Amino acid sequence: MYSRITGTGGYLPDKVLTNADLEKIVDTTDQWIRERTGISKRHVAAEGQFTVDLAEHAARRALEAAGRDAQDVDLIIVATTTPDRVFPSTACLLQKRLDRHGCAAFDIQAVCTGFVYALGIADKFVRTGAARCALVVGAETLTRLLDWNDRSTCVLFGDGAGAVVLEASEEPGILSTHLHADGAYEHLLTVPGGVSQGYDSLTDGHGYVTMKGNEVFKVAVNTLGRIVDETLEANKLEKSDIDWLIPHQANIRIIQATARKLGMSMDHVVVTVDEHGNTSSASVPMALDVAVRDGRIKPGEMLLMEAFGGGFTWGSVLLKF
Ligand code: COA
Repeated sequence: MYSRITGTGGYLPDKVLTNADLEKIVDTTDQWIRERTGISKRHVAAEGQFTVDLAEHAARRALEAAGRDAQDVDLIIVATTTPDRVFPSTACLLQKRLDRHGCAAFDIQAVCTGFVYALGIADKFVRTGAARCALVVGAETLTRLLDWNDRSTCVLFGDGAGAVVLEASEEPGILSTHLHADGAYEHLLTVPGGVSQGYDSLTDGHGYVTMKGNEVFKVAVNTLGRIVDETLEANKLEKSDIDWLIPHQANIRIIQATARKLGMSMDHVVVTVDEHGNTSSASVPMALDVAVRDGRIKPGEMLLMEAFGGGFTWGSVLLKF
């Protein structure tokens, strides 16, 4: 038994913040942001619009694309670092929105690798027969974690959601998933406050993303290179067997480095980072959705998804679409 993606969906909130807008907020320039990151704008959730709202849009689009109703779903996983509440999970809030009652629903938190982790988990549920139709979502309101006085982070992130429907199938499907983490790097990319440290820890300046960008960059490039090798070796494939790279959309230079490692022309890499910046766990499913809907990705093609994020966490998914 395999699991196969049968529908994709994505959603970006309406409000757009361009690099020119950011020039008015912090000491930065459109040119610096474009050259160092490839980002030209990001979307920001409206006041009163939360992660579950974004997740619901993406989930409904994925269900529609799969020709499925919410009642067909027997597992809901939401990857998010920006849940609406401490609890219930965003997955439970989404389940209520979809008027689906009783199936398993939970969040997972692996920051920017969250969707890859969630897909890896859902794949195991489907392969073992524990689920037949999973809704897997990556949804974030990352801008709520930004210090708008910190030019080294506030220019990088945005809000959004992406989703897939993953169904049991005798044909592949997901071929392999590879999940890793190394908590030794927790200090390089973190929101240092949290519930267990007390609410004061979130309001005394520790409730924002802090990052040693340069060091994160170097580890990300090396680690993503290694996971490409690991994934190909595990499946006894050559670089040339990959039709499409669907990378985490954090920085165009990191994406180009992974494409170089694969010896792949950028024509076969799905790039959306210019349109919305780093949307953390939403980035891979949104990029997949864009390239499926515009017809670039076709049934039967070999896709490699990869991501890297806070923790550090990193992972990949190889699949036949
Ligand atoms: N506008 C203008 N200048 C900026 C700036 C901004 N928004 N942010 C930082 N700078 C400045 C720095 O202060 C520094 O100035 P200095 O040389 O006078 O000290 C200079 O630009 C270079 O900073 P540096 O951090 O070395 O730049 P960089 O080339 O490494 O690019 C990042 C910075 C953040 C774009 C890059 O390191 C990066 O993308 N890292 C990975 C981040 C990431 O993807 N994180 C998420 C992983 S999931």
